[in-house]
Amino acid sequence: MSSNTGHPASTLNKVVLGLQWGDEGKGKVIDLLAGQTDMVVRCQGGANAGHTVVVGGKKTVLHLLPSGVLHSGARCIIGNGVVVDPLALCAEIDELALHGSDPTSRLAVSDRAHLVLPCHKALDAANETRKGDAKVGTTLRGIGPAYADKVARTGIRCGELRDLPAFTSHLRSHLIGVNGLLAALGAPAVDVEGAIDQVLPACRRVAGLVADTASELHQAAAAGKRFLFEGAQGVLLDIDYGTYPFVTSSNTGVGGVICGSGLSHKQLGEVIGVVKAYSTRVGAGPFPVELTGAAHGAKGDDIRRRGAEFGATTGRPRRCGWLDLVAVRFACRLNGVDSIALTKLDILTGEPELPVCVAYELDGARIDTIPSRIEDLARAKPVYEMLPGWSSPLGACRTRESLPTGARTYVEFLERQLSVPIRWIGTGPGREEIIER
Ligand code: GDP
Ligand code: IMO
Ligand code: MG
Repeated sequence: MSSNTGHPASTLNKVVLGLQWGDEGKGKVIDLLAGQTDMVVRCQGGANAGHTVVVGGKKTVLHLLPSGVLHSGARCIIGNGVVVDPLALCAEIDELALHGSDPTSRLAVSDRAHLVLPCHKALDAANETRKGDAKVGTTLRGIGPAYADKVARTGIRCGELRDLPAFTSHLRSHLIGVNGLLAALGAPAVDVEGAIDQVLPACRRVAGLVADTASELHQAAAAGKRFLFEGAQGVLLDIDYGTYPFVTSSNTGVGGVICGSGLSHKQLGEVIGVVKAYSTRVGAGPFPVELTGAAHGAKGDDIRRRGAEFGATTGRPRRCGWLDLVAVRFACRLNGVDSIALTKLDILTGEPELPVCVAYELDGARIDTIPSRIEDLARAKPVYEMLPGWSSPLGACRTRESLPTGARTYVEFLERQLSVPIRWIGTGPGREEIIER
């Protein structure tokens, strides 16, 4: 099947993935590409995501709604792999509607997607409290417990919202079950009837959006429609390949796109990896390049301030460090990344020189991949190559050639190290602040 441009439809499709620890700038890249697509599809994660889009100086942070939502021509799909918090989704829709762009008529939620309910958030908090110093540092959005229910085959799916009385009685028995778990964790019980009253109005609204999105996507594929798949989190937070257990609870790479949308690998098209020009991480877990402690902490604080590195969902300060190419290389290999969008290069302006981590040293040996045991990763020391910096701002640069020499050297070094072309370079948060080629 061909699109009306004569290209096989799948070659016009795009997957956008974060290749680090999340917050790479996926929202900006999705927004940029959404004008050339028919459907934007979220496939995993939930309201733990915070994707920022800046258009005409106005900032919008999206959590569950796909970041193509600001383009009125794009249909937005919340796929089966997403865990959907009805309260968060309705709040997000209302916020957009308040600013004149109600997305409801262009939005569908998969009938197979699992719900995140107040009891999942209570369990998330109770699990974290019980772990004490070993806590993951989750977003407390109920993500882990909702996916745990899914895998344990005790979850509640959005399709159940089509029969609200049956859903309500299922929810009631589910809440009673969760209260048993909360009691075992020494946490207060959820008020069962209060929780039902709290979520039912939102559930009623979400019921109107529920659809068999897998079938809709199959029909759209047959009609030659173009898809843009929006990854959430980042590959180093993947449940299988991330820094387990300091990860999120879904597959954040191409595997999650396939399982979480209902389309096959043949529909993926170009895989675009988003890479921030330095590294950040929110929450706990090993982070070899982190700039912290007496020797480096001031530089970490400096990057956080210049890059405004505070969580888009929780407002927590992000841990900062130099670019870790071991992590990005690993993420490229795992996902067959075709091209890279490099973001926030502008934030590095003014650094006299830029260390880039090209390998780790572990127990005297040099390694170029991420060890699976976090105890090993915690002991790994970054091996840096030093690159020259640059001093003139990048804000006005619209071509690669107009970048200062140091910035061009940085980009070309990354391309050589990763063997992946950099097709976009972010020079600021705004939609137009990008160099494309
Ligand atoms: P996401 O979760 O991957 O969508 O990323 P976040 O929205 O959580 O964080 C990225 C932050 O960087 C947001 O505040 C964006 O507005 C901002 N941003 C994205 N690209 C650029 C860029 O090239 N330069 C600058 N200065 N900011 C950017
Ligand atoms: P976007 O899509 C950055 C992190 C949390 C925590 C771990 C587990 O905006 O890039 P969870 O609530 O998922 O159980 O938390 O994962 N985390 C993110 N970090 N960006 C995100 O999303 C994240 N979503 C989850 O901080 O360390
Ligand atoms: Mg984010």
